[in-house]
Amino acid sequence: MTTASTHRLGEVGSTNDELLQLASRGAPSGTAVAAERQTAGRGRRGRAWLSPVGQHVYVSILWRPPASLATGEVAGVTLDVGLAVADVLTRLGVDAWVKWPNDVWVGERKIAGILSELHDAGVVLGIGVNVNVTADRMPDDIRDIATSMAIALGRESDRDAVLDDIVIAVRAACDQYAARGGPDTARYASRCITLGRRVRVEGKDGEAVGIARDGSLLVLFDATLAASASATPERVVAGDVELGPIASVPR
Ligand code: BTN
Repeated sequence: MTTASTHRLGEVGSTNDELLQLASRGAPSGTAVAAERQTAGRGRRGRAWLSPVGQHVYVSILWRPPASLATGEVAGVTLDVGLAVADVLTRLGVDAWVKWPNDVWVGERKIAGILSELHDAGVVLGIGVNVNVTADRMPDDIRDIATSMAIALGRESDRDAVLDDIVIAVRAACDQYAARGGPDTARYASRCITLGRRVRVEGKDGEAVGIARDGSLLVLFDATLAASASATPERVVAGDVELGPIASVPR
């Protein structure tokens, strides 16, 4: 069996691109590429992911899904990857939660993000964790919405150790996902900050009431509820979810 390795690089464009090149050349599942700095780090929905040198963890991990999983059953792995990252941070003393689908939040701010990209060569799971940036050095445009391990813990963390823990946890989460054939929705729901909150999805307001077996978010939209008191929640499979307050009536 080929052993997956972790490649630690200096400056790259995006670790996702570096890893895809390795994947195309036959790198085994679990191969990871980490960088000190990214010049073209990217986030979900075409956003840039600021990647300054020496402060954070930027890593991409390759997952080759087993042939037993249909194409449509693969994407849900990102939920378990987010959960794995939240678990690592929690073990390191940070009270981390997942915001559906796969952001990691502390309190009302984002501490880590995941960009998963599906290719013929495998799934590239790109993970960015804010580690050692302090509040005064947080860029102005994300100061009110982002946080870091340094802010949560009041001290610096060893970025190499955080990286190693994340790689180990994500590899394990992918193996477990493959064995289960889907996301661990029960555990995910227990750690999901989105549930029980007012949400806005694509301009529509409602309440997030659950996680479906395939990992979609179940939302009871106000408009649906207004039309029928016995309305059932709708499945949201992708998209940005804005969080509002905790819903007043627990369901
Ligand atoms: C998001 O929340 O929008 C996802 C952010 C993902 C950032 C990581 S950093 C490592 C990997 N390489 C990239 O270019 N992006 C991901």
